[in-house]
Amino acid sequence: MFESIAIVGATGAVGNLICQMLEQRRFPYKKITFLSSQRSAGKRLTFKGEQHTIELMCPEAFDGIDLAIGSTPDPVAAEFCPWAVERNCVVVDESGYWRMDPKVPLVVPEINPEAALNHQGILSSPNCSTTQMVLAMKPLHDAGKIRRVVVSTYQATSGAGVQGQEDLIAGSRAFLDGQDYAHKAFNYPIAFNLIPQIGSLKHEGYTSEEMKMVYETQKIFGDDSIKVCPTCVRVPVENCHSESILVETEKKISVAEARELFAATPGIKVLDDLAAGEYPMPADCSGDDAVFVGRIREDLSCDNGLAFWCVSDNLRKGAATNAVQIAELLIKSQAAV
Ligand SMILES: NC(=O)c1ccc[n+]([C@@H]2O[C@H](COP(=O)([O-])OP(=O)(O)OC[C@H]3O[C@@H](n4cnc5c(N)ncnc54)[C@H](OP(=O)(O)O)[C@@H]3O)[C@@H](O)[C@H]2O)c1
Repeated sequence: MFESIAIVGATGAVGNLICQMLEQRRFPYKKITFLSSQRSAGKRLTFKGEQHTIELMCPEAFDGIDLAIGSTPDPVAAEFCPWAVERNCVVVDESGYWRMDPKVPLVVPEINPEAALNHQGILSSPNCSTTQMVLAMKPLHDAGKIRRVVVSTYQATSGAGVQGQEDLIAGSRAFLDGQDYAHKAFNYPIAFNLIPQIGSLKHEGYTSEEMKMVYETQKIFGDDSIKVCPTCVRVPVENCHSESILVETEKKISVAEARELFAATPGIKVLDDLAAGEYPMPADCSGDDAVFVGRIREDLSCDNGLAFWCVSDNLRKGAATNAVQIAELLIKSQAAV
């Protein structure tokens, strides 16, 4: 057990859910601290029915803390993680800053739990659009070795945090009232629109969000030969990312086999009956920890190809649930020593 834990970025969209997860999953600890920037320090937060004062995050805030779960913007994580590690505090970090550092394990507990055991103080949780995709890829990769993935994402506004959610709601109201709204999280109006750019230009016409899906997938599977071609799109949906995924495998996997493989994988729920109008939709998947898969069919354009539709709550398995599961793995490994 970690006796003293801290939630860094407790006031954010992900941080708020991490707090709920710790309570729901009865995460063990003796003392808990909530940290934020100057904006929220001093404010009160209710956790397990009790009021706590949010404290200012600074190097000394990590004195005596054994485990920190962080969900802050990248530059903040770049700064605070070394402060924590210098004080013997292990960090499970949600940000993108440390994910591709060779010294930092990038962990999805259902896929590469062993990676968590080799940490040097910092462990990363993947990007939300990567996590649901790799979990859906896992049984197909094990059965038939995935060579290539073509993925198009339909990403909810909560993926851009509290401000992203606010931009959708307030922007929609303003749109319907015929008024202007100054968007803060996005470069263009998201209400009644979609934006085919998430992140900045990173590599030969691909955005930073898209390249995360390429690099993180290869790191999690430990296989640089998996080719990924992503297109990431922000859509006016409040919560849950959806993905259209095409995979090409070395060994052919039939639709029936794929359905069985998905159904047998912990963390995946299959909802796949087109005739009955059954498939996963963001409105139904919000608040669930599972990765939902449906519309499973052969890819008509290649021999060993499968196409499917994948939806998951980006704030839960895409973020908070995965981070808390990583922390639980660490506790289990302590118990095994
Ligand atoms: N949203 C998702 O679906 C998702 C999924 C996976 C990963 N992530 C990653 O998780 C991180 C948080 O995302 P989010 O969506 O929760 O964002 P958010 O709603 O904007 O929350 C950001 C949090 O960071 C805190 N923070 C900002 N600057 C700080 C500073 N200088 N010192 C201490 N705390 C500071 C904020 O506290 P204040 O109240 O003080 O501003 C707030 O609690 C990001 O790196 C994001 O890429 C997000």
